[in-house]
Amino acid sequence: MLEVHLLTLFPEAVQGYLDSSILGRAQTAGHLKVHLVDFRQFSKDKHRTVDDRPFGGGPGMVLKPEPIFEAVEWVESTHGPCQRILLTPDGQPFRQANAVALSQEARLLLLCGRYEGFDERIRLGMKWQEISIGDYVLSGGELPALAVIEATARLIPGVLGHDQSAQEDSFTNPQQLDHPHYTRPAEFRGMKTPDILLSGDHQAVAAWRHQQAIDRTAQRRPDLLPEEPTPEH
Ligand code: ADE
Repeated sequence: MLEVHLLTLFPEAVQGYLDSSILGRAQTAGHLKVHLVDFRQFSKDKHRTVDDRPFGGGPGMVLKPEPIFEAVEWVESTHGPCQRILLTPDGQPFRQANAVALSQEARLLLLCGRYEGFDERIRLGMKWQEISIGDYVLSGGELPALAVIEATARLIPGVLGHDQSAQEDSFTNPQQLDHPHYTRPAEFRGMKTPDILLSGDHQAVAAWRHQQAIDRTAQRRPDLLPEEPTPEH
């Protein structure tokens, strides 16, 4: 059972996704529980302000520290300490190995930013794992948080119907892309399913898939392949 506390100013934007498909079923089956926390509720002034103009000038607004500290402290005093994750394009790139590590935690807290950024004291005053889902800038951490939750939750035993499907995905150990898949009809618009997949020879199928995965990785993502040993002269 993985417990996730998702701190966001837009709980309604993520609710539908969390309740659908695999994540919805994972929650119904008790493998996952996501608590949505609108940190605006932890703002103390009458307008429930969560952002302010940056000291030193410049465009955009900055998330104030107080409501976020209050929200994190409330979550952890109510539920217990969490592995804290801050979603930001400045973070470490999120990889399958990070999802594997997170799937072994009991409790995660994910903080979604908005606006121009976080007041630096949020980073300095609490311990975070800072995660980026790619080298592009989104308008908030909600989509990155959903990506992290989904990549993590599907690794919890029992969440996928067929426990092998997560094992065989792209990027699972070793870092490799997936092999091609075919289903019925065996021939579609002149495109045939490779004979070997129809042969019933499980060993031959496994060998073909393995080779296809290697070829595909070499072609599309050579950066994932182990480095060739360099000749010694
Ligand atoms: N917030 C905005 N852009 C992001 C990104 N690429 N990864 C994580 N959090 C973000």
